[in-house]
Amino acid sequence: MLITLKEIVDRAADSDYAIPGFNVYGYEDIIPVIRAAEEVGAPVIIAANLPALKHMPLAFLAPQMLTAARSSSVPVCVHLDHGKDLQSCIDAIKHGFSSVMYDGSQLSLEDNIRTTKEIADYAHAHGVSVEAEIGSVGYTDPSIAMKHILSNPEEVEIFVRETGIDAVAVSVGTVHRMETQGASIDFELLQRIQDRVTIPLVIHGSSGVPDHDLEKLVKTRVGKINIGTALRMAFGYTMRGEMEQNPKAFDRVSLFQEPMAAVEAIAKQKLIIMGCRGRA
Ligand code: G3H
Ligand code: ZN
Repeated sequence: MLITLKEIVDRAADSDYAIPGFNVYGYEDIIPVIRAAEEVGAPVIIAANLPALKHMPLAFLAPQMLTAARSSSVPVCVHLDHGKDLQSCIDAIKHGFSSVMYDGSQLSLEDNIRTTKEIADYAHAHGVSVEAEIGSVGYTDPSIAMKHILSNPEEVEIFVRETGIDAVAVSVGTVHRMETQGASIDFELLQRIQDRVTIPLVIHGSSGVPDHDLEKLVKTRVGKINIGTALRMAFGYTMRGEMEQNPKAFDRVSLFQEPMAAVEAIAKQKLIIMGCRGRA
């Protein structure tokens, strides 16, 4: 069933689990992610980001995500990831998304608050949840000009109070697009942040978080943990292996079977590590 972010993430933050926000790019990863959630009886978040929407415009991707969510036996939140402005959030909401993230992390605190509040007011008037970021989770790829700034607890408190958002993304040591689980989380900073706010915290760039730290994170006020790269690697590497084994293969219908199974396996593994089994 389709559900908002707030409806699932509040409970996760209050309990010893966190819900993965999986980046999806089309049918080939939407279906395995939802299958994984159904297998373990977990709520799940499927998220479309800018690269996904460049590959497949919202008018095509949104109906796939929404159909999968509505026909699922578990709660599925359909979420916009790293929305770049008010208009991209409005577009997602008009296409039926139940949650949007606005990323004003590159702006000054004042400008970030102003735009985030505008989006939160619009989204809430339409029954949609809002996540926003303060501090900035950078990227491993230096060609992506996004700053990497750890979140300041005092700023997080002001940001949450002034914007009325439902969940706040914080920067506590992760970096987007890590291909190994080598991130180092600053749990002391995380504690100082959660002492100041009551809404759920969100961790981005979590493909790089070691399993033992994922297990630790879910026991904090973190309610959502974003995973993208780990799924793309599972799909891409499995496909490469198949093509190396059979260089003459060209039929996508058969070629996609193993990569989809690999995505399902990783999604299931992350759901279990994050304590989501049976939480639907
Ligand atoms: O917003 C999406 C996530 O932060 C995914 O990050 O690709 O490093 O797992 P990741
Ligand atoms: Zn992110």
